[in-house]
Amino acid sequence: MEYLRLFNWYYDNKRDLPFRKTNDPYHIWVSEIMLQQTQVDTMLPFYERFLRIFPTIESLAHANIEEVLRVVQGIGYYKRFRMLHKGAQYVINNHYGKLPDEYQAIIKIPGIGPYTAGAILSIAFNKPFAATDGNVIRVLSRKYQIDDDFRVNKNKIKLDKFNQSLIEQSNDPYTYTQSMMELGAMVCKPQNPLCKTCPFGNVCLANLNNVWKDYPKMSKLKEKKEIHYFAFIIKSKDGFLMRKRTEDLLHGFYEFIQVEADSLNGALNQLYDIGLDIQIEEELNPVKHIFTHLVWHIKLYRAFLTNKTDLFERVSDFKTVPVSTVVKKQIVQIK
Ligand code: ADE
Repeated sequence: MEYLRLFNWYYDNKRDLPFRKTNDPYHIWVSEIMLQQTQVDTMLPFYERFLRIFPTIESLAHANIEEVLRVVQGIGYYKRFRMLHKGAQYVINNHYGKLPDEYQAIIKIPGIGPYTAGAILSIAFNKPFAATDGNVIRVLSRKYQIDDDFRVNKNKIKLDKFNQSLIEQSNDPYTYTQSMMELGAMVCKPQNPLCKTCPFGNVCLANLNNVWKDYPKMSKLKEKKEIHYFAFIIKSKDGFLMRKRTEDLLHGFYEFIQVEADSLNGALNQLYDIGLDIQIEEELNPVKHIFTHLVWHIKLYRAFLTNKTDLFERVSDFKTVPVSTVVKKQIVQIK
């Protein structure tokens, strides 16, 4: 690999990002968790706020999970923050609050898999452990014109081994990881890559053969499952009736009374059967929300309850509980 060209390109062109001005392993950890599912521009304000509120591993470990979720609400993919919080508690209990710099120790931390371990070890500790993310898959699959389907796990593992051999030969693990990611983000983009200014332009097989569009090869994703819900915004004198989710999806976030059904009558009957006699006041705008594997279609109603129930919590201030984007789309309709 042409490391010198890559590294010179990086130092001449890199973006000035806050997580590149630190080598605090905790800051790198937080940034890499956020960057796994969120673009740089979107994650930056969350990153700054998160570290302002939880400046140390200890402060994060001692916070309660609801507080953590409230700080990141709106960013999406919340399981990673539940895991980060567990991870912080693990580091307090097992490593005196300091992130270890050995692969075998760091990989045992809840929420840290091979990617995050490689990113932290190479960026914070300058150790040669590969971090193979979508950017790196794109750069390598194009440069070497690799025909493997990267939706298939064994092919990702194979590429990770190759990336590992490259970082070992680089003599500069920090710069290798940063420059490959930066190249993937800024030059070797999914659409309209800037091959003319790419440091690998004249050695990249996909560019030379003019086939960058075909790489990386990815088989089609399964279609998302569509679920139809009916939700009811009900205000009692003590606040809105809400439930804290216990399901894996959006675990710990609050939602209004919501049931899966084919029709409004079906939904009302289900609720009647658990002891809720609901009267509709007004139909609001339906809400659609797309998750990784699912699409939610929610028909939304303002309603009241003619009987008493202790099945739901009462929330009078939405700022005091975690609410996700899908519930925010409902809250804005409350007059
Ligand atoms: N995506 C994930 N990690 C990154 C990093 N360190 N720099 C730029 N993009 C990234």
